[in-house]
Amino acid sequence: MTTNTTSKTYNKVTSILIILTAEILLCLPMIQAQAPPGNAKKISTDLFGLFFEDINYAADGGLYAELVQNRSFEYNPAERKVWHPLYNWEYFTTGYSYGKVNIESSQPVHPNNPHYTVLEAEHIYQEGGSVGIRNQGFDGIVVRNGQSYLFSVFAKQLSKEPVSLKVSLQTKKGEVLAEHQLTVSSANWEKQTAVLSSNADYDTASLVIALVSKGKTALDVVSLFPEHTFKKRANGMRADLAQLLADMKPAFIRFPGGCLVHGDGLGNMYRWKNTIGPIEQRAEQRNIWGYHQTGGLGYYEYFQFCEDIGAKPLPVLPAAVSCQNSGGTWRIGGTGQRALPLEEMQEYIQEVIDLIEWANGPVNSTWGSKRAAAGHPASFNLQYVGIGNEEKITPEFEQRFKLINDAVKAKHPEITVIGTSGPFHSGEDFDKGWSFAKSQQVQVVDEHYYVQPEWFISNQYRYDKYPRNAGNVYLGEYASWGNQLKNALAEAAFMTGLERNGDVVQLASYAPLFAKKNNTQWKTDMIFFDNSGYYLTPNYHIQKLFSANRGDWYLNNMIRKDNRDTSLAASATADSKTGDIILKLVNTSNEKKTITADLSGYKFSSVGLKIIMSGSPEQQNSFSQPDAIKPDYHKTVITKKMLVEVPAMSFILIRINTYK
Ligand code: AHR
Repeated sequence: MTTNTTSKTYNKVTSILIILTAEILLCLPMIQAQAPPGNAKKISTDLFGLFFEDINYAADGGLYAELVQNRSFEYNPAERKVWHPLYNWEYFTTGYSYGKVNIESSQPVHPNNPHYTVLEAEHIYQEGGSVGIRNQGFDGIVVRNGQSYLFSVFAKQLSKEPVSLKVSLQTKKGEVLAEHQLTVSSANWEKQTAVLSSNADYDTASLVIALVSKGKTALDVVSLFPEHTFKKRANGMRADLAQLLADMKPAFIRFPGGCLVHGDGLGNMYRWKNTIGPIEQRAEQRNIWGYHQTGGLGYYEYFQFCEDIGAKPLPVLPAAVSCQNSGGTWRIGGTGQRALPLEEMQEYIQEVIDLIEWANGPVNSTWGSKRAAAGHPASFNLQYVGIGNEEKITPEFEQRFKLINDAVKAKHPEITVIGTSGPFHSGEDFDKGWSFAKSQQVQVVDEHYYVQPEWFISNQYRYDKYPRNAGNVYLGEYASWGNQLKNALAEAAFMTGLERNGDVVQLASYAPLFAKKNNTQWKTDMIFFDNSGYYLTPNYHIQKLFSANRGDWYLNNMIRKDNRDTSLAASATADSKTGDIILKLVNTSNEKKTITADLSGYKFSSVGLKIIMSGSPEQQNSFSQPDAIKPDYHKTVITKKMLVEVPAMSFILIRINTYK
């Protein structure tokens, strides 16, 4: 990725300059806060947001900036046969030193974190000898020259004498990139910290912890974070990846999934209370996607991140039933759903209610005080709560959903509960899910579909036919199968339909968001990354352009085009905060097309901003060609009856400043 840095930076600078120039040129007394003239309808201000799930190593090893893998020695063979508490840790001795390493669980740092390691140096051979363990991170730890890394560990002295620990970052050949010496001299668990500043760039470093004096120590929660996390948050996020999400200006972020929410069997459901508080107290567990989740990126971090980037938090909680694919093959079967026993429901409902208090309650409430203790006394302004994720609509699900929904509505009528309608765009669960949701007067219903690009094109009028008084839609997961330009354009065409129907479609989020190179469980994703870089798909660019250019009015008559031609899709919205009109035009055919935009009734600036993304249908980006498909920024002339040419296989966004 480093080879592309210069061209990426150049492109970014050029784009920023064009945007700035356009904004200066257009700097007229604008702002048109009321309804725009003509035939306009109010649409959702929350329409485009993000879906985040820890799939494809999106959290641990991804967005969560922790560099140590298996930091708490909690990997175990029940997760993967080859895993054990010392997985990814290598024991070593130098010189003729000798000793041993063990895993124990009799006196842990916290009962939620039962295992720890015991390292003993029985003999240290001369000066420079050591007995230690080293961690490879997630396929190597990336360090940069001059950058600092924050190390911490819980340690306690188990021998009579205090022990000296040397902590270092090392290359594969054992060259030291950074080093610090600590003394463990407490018989109780104590957190020790050190700052390691690297003296070189290196992509596959190890973290080495070595006893350099004879003795015995217990170690747990061995952690290493880059100092520069996003907004420099402690226990924070990888700055480059988090910035990509911030750049999209999403209205909301849905978390923590996906199927991760309802889990692989009842014991695997994502329980939010396990993911708040100090990291050493969080309960780790297997992820439904077959790997380990530390919970380090937990509810507090999700809410804080939402606030940091101005997005509304949208947590999804299990509906007290597990994934229907539990214990089986993905999407095959549908028999694995398990339900919490009814006698446990009261306790479970309280868990849901407690989340609302944790997020919004005063600092003197039981759960609000925990949020305050974590560093956030102010409310997180939680508005939406999802209950369930694409469940099979069984009597067991319905019974539990009703209990939860009724309790939330009774105690917190200010919260919008989001229901669910199965994993497909139609069919039995979809129909049953919607009709059950209507019977329960659920305000918003979550739809999911992953389909071919052609489906998106031919279904761009799907929501024009939806009733306007039967619950709004949250299109919580959707994507066309692929990351080529044709996929992104098919999604764009469909998204113009979401805008046109923004009075009934309240929220929408593409899924999944992240995929780590060589660790991908889901084929079509929005952002591909490795330990040191990333590339953006055409789908990302489309999502960003729609999300960062949201309107709150739909302008019904502004665009003239032949609606029978589904290969040409278009929308016109107005943003009452800026007074801008935003046109989005999509041509999914192999020939150029034209549309007319009618600006009669508006006073507008004669120069607008035009963003265009085009190419050949199969083109896509990759680590070696990250910018094969990307949006280009231009200035454009705006006229009252504007004829716009839309090239073959292209997306065009035009932003027009209006004034009174
Ligand atoms: O986005 C990937 C998966 O697809 C989600 O976890 C699940 O909800 C859906 O079926």
